[in-house]
Amino acid sequence: MTRTVYVNGEYLPEHEAKVSIFDRAFLMADGVYEVTSVLDGKLIDFGGHMARLDRSLSELDIRKPGCFDDLLEIHRELVRVNGIDEGLVYLQITRGSPGDRDFVFPDPETTEPTVVLFTQNKPGLAQSPAVKTGLKIVSIPDVRWGRRDIKTVQLLYPSMGKMMAKAAGADDAWMVMDGFVTEGTSNNAYFIKGNKIVTRALSHDILHGITRAAVLRFAAEAQMEVEERDFTVAEAQDADEAFITSASAFVMPVVEIDGVALGGGVPGPRAARLREIYLDESRKAAV
Ligand code: PDD
Repeated sequence: MTRTVYVNGEYLPEHEAKVSIFDRAFLMADGVYEVTSVLDGKLIDFGGHMARLDRSLSELDIRKPGCFDDLLEIHRELVRVNGIDEGLVYLQITRGSPGDRDFVFPDPETTEPTVVLFTQNKPGLAQSPAVKTGLKIVSIPDVRWGRRDIKTVQLLYPSMGKMMAKAAGADDAWMVMDGFVTEGTSNNAYFIKGNKIVTRALSHDILHGITRAAVLRFAAEAQMEVEERDFTVAEAQDADEAFITSASAFVMPVVEIDGVALGGGVPGPRAARLREIYLDESRKAAV
């Protein structure tokens, strides 16, 4: 089946979808995005993703596109026509295409934002085999820009980070700035010691994960405390368990950091419990 995608007001077969070579995201990474997961054909944490999108746009002074209030319907239509039961919806909004290259922002009155959405079909997303084995993580320096709270399409360093992890025989990388872990290449990072979940506090240094917000809300249900503070790789290596969160991985256990095994190198019960609560509650609230 040919995938149907959405570009600037039109639903099109993917091979007919086109964006200008002068698009600001193509030339300057001047665009923001969201990734929303789909379970049972429904959108997970949709309100949170749209609230963060709104904030990303306003932080960059990108005008909201005319279709902004229709985004739920557009997401739903793409899920429907592409027959997605489990998978992802990717959404990107850019500052548009002024028809030439210029560092100065184009006039928002005359340059419409570009809006692109597409689905990724991922049967078995919630049953990923990695949940059973856990992830191996390596640490790498965080050399990204200083506004990581804005979800921009500047993903070159995170891509390089995944490649560095792969080259080291690991599954993913955690980034470290001034001796403290910021986050994973495409996820937030946590460790568990005793009854406590430790994760970096929100600031411009990390993406304010939508899954993070939900999991920390559900921590009480798992009889756990939350401590939001800076932490080192050494502290995480000494923990009982560690995990990551994202819209595509949900809660995913980490079993090794820089070659040091945690909890005997197998996923622990508390991250598993958090994953279970997250998936149950999110499915209930899905739209
Ligand atoms: N990545 N930190 C970074 C750097 C991310 O790129 C992401 C998400 C997260 C987790 O945020 P959330 O829980 O809202 O998905 C944290 C998405 C999934 C991606 O780029 O594919």
